[in-house]
Amino acid sequence: MSSAVRSAGASASSTAARRAAAPTAARAASGRRAMRTAATAGGNGSEPEQQQQLRPRSLATLLVHSEGLVNDPFAASMPPIYQTATFQQPDAIEMGEYDYSRSGNPTRTVLEKMLAQMEGAERAFAFGSGMAALAAVVRLLKSGDHIVAGDDLYGGTSRLLSRVVPDAGIDVTNVDTCDLEAVRGAIVPGRTRLVMLESPTNPRMQICDIQAICEMAHAAGALVCVDNSILTCIYQRPLDLGADIAMTSATKFIGGHSDVTAGILAVRDKQLADRLYFLQNAEGSALGPFDCWLLVRGLKTMSLRMERQVANARRIAEWLAAHPLVHRVNYPGLASHPGRDVHERQATAPGSIISFVTNDADLSRVVVEQTELFKITVSFGNVCSLISMPCFMSHASIPAEVRAARGLPNDLVRISVGIEDVDDLIADLDQAFSKAAAAAAAKGQQQAAGQSAYEP
Ligand SMILES: Cc1ncc(COP(=O)(O)O)c(C=O)c1O
Repeated sequence: MSSAVRSAGASASSTAARRAAAPTAARAASGRRAMRTAATAGGNGSEPEQQQQLRPRSLATLLVHSEGLVNDPFAASMPPIYQTATFQQPDAIEMGEYDYSRSGNPTRTVLEKMLAQMEGAERAFAFGSGMAALAAVVRLLKSGDHIVAGDDLYGGTSRLLSRVVPDAGIDVTNVDTCDLEAVRGAIVPGRTRLVMLESPTNPRMQICDIQAICEMAHAAGALVCVDNSILTCIYQRPLDLGADIAMTSATKFIGGHSDVTAGILAVRDKQLADRLYFLQNAEGSALGPFDCWLLVRGLKTMSLRMERQVANARRIAEWLAAHPLVHRVNYPGLASHPGRDVHERQATAPGSIISFVTNDADLSRVVVEQTELFKITVSFGNVCSLISMPCFMSHASIPAEVRAARGLPNDLVRISVGIEDVDDLIADLDQAFSKAAAAAAAKGQQQAAGQSAYEP
């Protein structure tokens, strides 16, 4: 026997041995689960004792313990990545559980089941980006339908609604969704099929009453989709508040490390779920297996990351609010926030996104450019703190006059607070503001001397 054949044979027999051992491992794991169940039921062969009532497990626990969601013969601790486009069928006319990854993939199933559990949903769907998820939502409508949407939405959502959706014969009315009467006035009974909102809005961090808007929309026969990317279901569950669709850009907190783009839709209604699954498959917008796996990994630490981010953000918001160069801070955790009461009714934390204005775009720019720990980046939700000027970055696709009409000033700065040491973050902002103050003073002197150039 040649050595190549011998080693192939040896590896074949060790593979066979592993295969034989694997079900044992899986059996052992399920045996342990069975024993735990028996022990919890007080079963030692005698009459069951009083059953111990376990408190319902919180999301933080459920996220870490997602065991049992995948039927893995090796009892892998983390779900395997099924990096395959196709699955062999048992025969020519029968399909197995999976046949083609656009239609379904076991790694995606694990992710989608975890997300459905977290959202309190019938089903969740993972898309290639948040925008792909939102595009599937607007696909639910047809020509002649009408959408009522917020007027302080993520720039990409505004672009979708203003430059893609109208081509399908669907019109959109943007309103201030914090103003319930404005929402009521914008809904056209029988024609408005969808209300799309964010709360908090991005980037002005305004709060709208999700439950009240859902009641209004449902009375007129419209669906409500809440973009919950800023808080995620860790801090706000739109479906519990009456929304039909909870949308999350998983690029943000679910991934948590800015290394994947993904979007999630979660729904309770079975018919709506079937339609969204149809669209996801028909349009090929589902998330690939490796990215699903990254999100499953992200979910395990999500609660811990977000808790730290919120604690840091609370401190930074207070610090900014007390800073003499800051004109206004938008953060629903501050007592001064006009939507704080509504927010506290519908969410359990203010999140970790803060925006502020200085009334001086040049000064804001120096602050943004002089921070060292806050990276100048679009997006949010990374473990690393991020800083941006939305009018020139994430919301630049909104025409300047529309931004101005919506109260989006050029000097607006948005920060996404990370998990770093909060005192380091505050020290970093402090030195950036000092440089900005020095630059503003120099600019004042130049202007007084009649020079126009201002180079931050
Ligand atoms: C609130 C909000 N919704 C949706 C999106 C779109 O998500 P994605 O970038 O994953 O397509 C973003 C992206 O920044 C966002 O901030």
